[in-house]
Amino acid sequence: MKFKAMTAMAALLAAPMVFAGGADDDVLTINEDLEMVTKTAAPAHMADDVDEIISGWHFRSDETQALQMDDFDNPGMIFVDQALDMWNAAEGSEGKACADCHGDAEESMAGVAATYPKWNDGAEEVRTLQMQVNDCRENRMGAKPFKYDAGAAVSMEAMITSYSRGMPVNVAIDGPAAAMWEQGKEMYYTRTGQLELSCANCHEQNYGNFIRADHLSQGQINGFPAYRLKNAKLNGVHSRFKGCVRDTRAETYSPGSADFIALELYVKSRANGLSVEGPSVRN
Ligand code: HEC
Ligand code: HEC
Repeated sequence: MKFKAMTAMAALLAAPMVFAGGADDDVLTINEDLEMVTKTAAPAHMADDVDEIISGWHFRSDETQALQMDDFDNPGMIFVDQALDMWNAAEGSEGKACADCHGDAEESMAGVAATYPKWNDGAEEVRTLQMQVNDCRENRMGAKPFKYDAGAAVSMEAMITSYSRGMPVNVAIDGPAAAMWEQGKEMYYTRTGQLELSCANCHEQNYGNFIRADHLSQGQINGFPAYRLKNAKLNGVHSRFKGCVRDTRAETYSPGSADFIALELYVKSRANGLSVEGPSVRN
């Protein structure tokens, strides 16, 4: 067992960690109109560890990058259209649609995603965007909550997020959200699994390097939900976390769990200042 873990570690880290020159210098403009901030100074809370924060877009191939530059080429936008239909459709015992209370989605949801996860005073909890949508479904529409990170939930999240594209990520980490943020930070720097690797080992200390055939980014979530060419669907943040934790050969958490909510809050705060990009395209 021990020997196996050591060889796995060596296979993962020693041979294939090839420096590839880091992030490229391309510029991300969407629909030849909306220029995105994809590199900027790190927020104060992480300035001791990292100087510059960089969108995952910079670490992808030219072909993958191009798919995100035009909404007609971005496969994630199909799900945004589907979610708009859901937005306008009445559901649940109250016979209400999202639109009945919120009106036009583009107008009412502009800027919302940039601030999530965020503290909700009434519920006294940190809510992800998916949790907030489910709260409206259950308590205002009398409808069943969406399954966390499943198709409908992620499509709705992508639609809401698309109306924040180009705006800076701006999650609050102080006040009542501080305790959960600390918990997420602790998780980020804790080595887990047989490989004894933390998020920081890969995404803070080795971004720009190649691991297996993959160009390591900073593991930012300003591009989520992300359409992945690998599984040809939109992927939620927690599902991505789950894959990364599993890659360290550790027991992982479930999408929607308190641990992943804390981790999402912390990781999102590492993108404070980068443009919201979701839905992005990744491999
Ligand atoms: C019956 C009215 C009603 C319906 C229907 C409704 N909502 Fe809401 N929604 C609200 C209210 C009121 C709030 C503010 C609640 C709060 O702050 O706790 C809210 C808040 C939100 C927010 C957070 C906005 C922010 O600035 O943080 C989102 C996102 C949201 N709703 C999405 C949806 C979606 C998606 C649907 C349909 C699936 C929906 N809502 C259906 C009444 C409604
Ligand atoms: C063994 C190295 C490794 C570890 C440890 C690891 N990841 Fe990753 N992660 C990857 C690789 C490889 C990718 C795909 C290439 C990329 O985007 O960096 C990735 C991608 C991601 C992405 C997608 C970024 C984007 O722009 O689409 C996020 C978010 C992420 N990781 C978060 C985390 C978090 C949070 C942790 C800790 C729980 C973690 N990762 C641990 C290797 C790792």
